[in-house]
Amino acid sequence: RSLGNGHASRPQSPLKFFIQAKKRINDVFKEILEYVQEAEKFQTEVPEGCKQEEELSVTKYEGKIQGIIEVLTRDHMKVVFFGRTSNGKSTTINAMLRSKILPSGIGHTTNCFLQVEGCDSAEGFLLTEDSDQPKGIGSIKQLASALSTVKLKENSLIRILWPKDKCRLLREDVVFLDSPGIDVSPDLDTWIDNFCLDADVFVLVANAESTLMQTEKNFFHKVSSRLSKPNIFILQNRWDVSVSEEEADQVKEQHYQRNVDFLSNELKVVDKQEAKNRIFFVSSKEALISRLHEDNLTPTPSGSLQKDYPERLFAFANFEKSFESCISKSAVKTKFEQHSQRGKNIMSDLREIMEKTLSTSQTQMTEKQKFREEAADELDYLDKQLILLTSEIKDKIKYMVEDVENKVSYALNE
Ligand code: GTP
Ligand code: MG
Repeated sequence: RSLGNGHASRPQSPLKFFIQAKKRINDVFKEILEYVQEAEKFQTEVPEGCKQEEELSVTKYEGKIQGIIEVLTRDHMKVVFFGRTSNGKSTTINAMLRSKILPSGIGHTTNCFLQVEGCDSAEGFLLTEDSDQPKGIGSIKQLASALSTVKLKENSLIRILWPKDKCRLLREDVVFLDSPGIDVSPDLDTWIDNFCLDADVFVLVANAESTLMQTEKNFFHKVSSRLSKPNIFILQNRWDVSVSEEEADQVKEQHYQRNVDFLSNELKVVDKQEAKNRIFFVSSKEALISRLHEDNLTPTPSGSLQKDYPERLFAFANFEKSFESCISKSAVKTKFEQHSQRGKNIMSDLREIMEKTLSTSQTQMTEKQKFREEAADELDYLDKQLILLTSEIKDKIKYMVEDVENKVSYALNE
């Protein structure tokens, strides 16, 4: 049964908002670049005598704009997953990616930061901070699992480049960050500084079998002090385990109340109404299993999905829908607002320079005109002088010729 969360691109995908905005702003900067290049060409063609002073040159803006275009093409939407060990962070990301990419398991599994991003190649690969050499996807468990003997340090980052054509969310510019459990590290401040300051959305993966813990709350208090109003979603995961308990409905209500209170009263990142739309009761494990079978066109083995599972799969798809809309709006605002402000500043600088260029060249033109008029007056005078002179000379020559003729005819007569 299709749950409406296939990985084929959907025309109404909220993530398209970010992609369209990125294309639009990129086009605007390309136009600005063309304008600068035109202005630059104009300035180099100005005759030597009329050259502008150095500060009126537009050359420096070309590099600036090219820099912005480069940053823009790398801009993406980033979601960071946090929570205590074994709550299901890696499983949740795998379910969203519809592939078992990240190592998951009981106990403390994820040992360092793992960033999953899209690539255009047909095969995925890994990049680690210590080398430029790409590594095979197969070595991920060895590098990232806490159970491995050659694992990387917990503050390090492994980038997983996964083929875009295998996953819609990667194709649509979302980057995922998986983290070690917040309860196993004393160094949360460094984590936040290194990995969270450019995050657009945070997903807290909580365990629905217990209540929100102080370590989880503390982490988000720290995030809130560094970022104003972070976008936070809370996944009450492993709901498949709790749902058959007798008091499940009351527990759900208790989780809702405490989570809403945490987001709206304690962190003050959203109001009460909005907070309710940020909490989802899911089973990432069921979502992953059912999606893998759905994509392989194989039936999901009975027993792997618990009672009332469609409700949890639906909640998971609903979470993704809210998440997509939230992350694309937030990323457009935080990432492109800065670019458009810089674009506006550059345009107003250019305008000022071109206006100055215009007024300088106008002054120069008036001066030349004046010079030409003065020169014309002088020429006029010279002309008249010349005419006068010529007629004098003419007369003189006439007399001389007549004189010579007279003298010649006199001599001949003689
Ligand atoms: P660390 O990497 O150690 O911090 O853990 P994690 O938060 O990444 O958890 P992980 O995804 O590795 O999941 C831990 C274990 O819980 C795995 O055995 C998963 O199969 C299981 N698990 C994850 N989500 C669920 C769920 O919704 N229901 C059930 N029953 N098990 C789950
Ligand atoms: Mg993990």
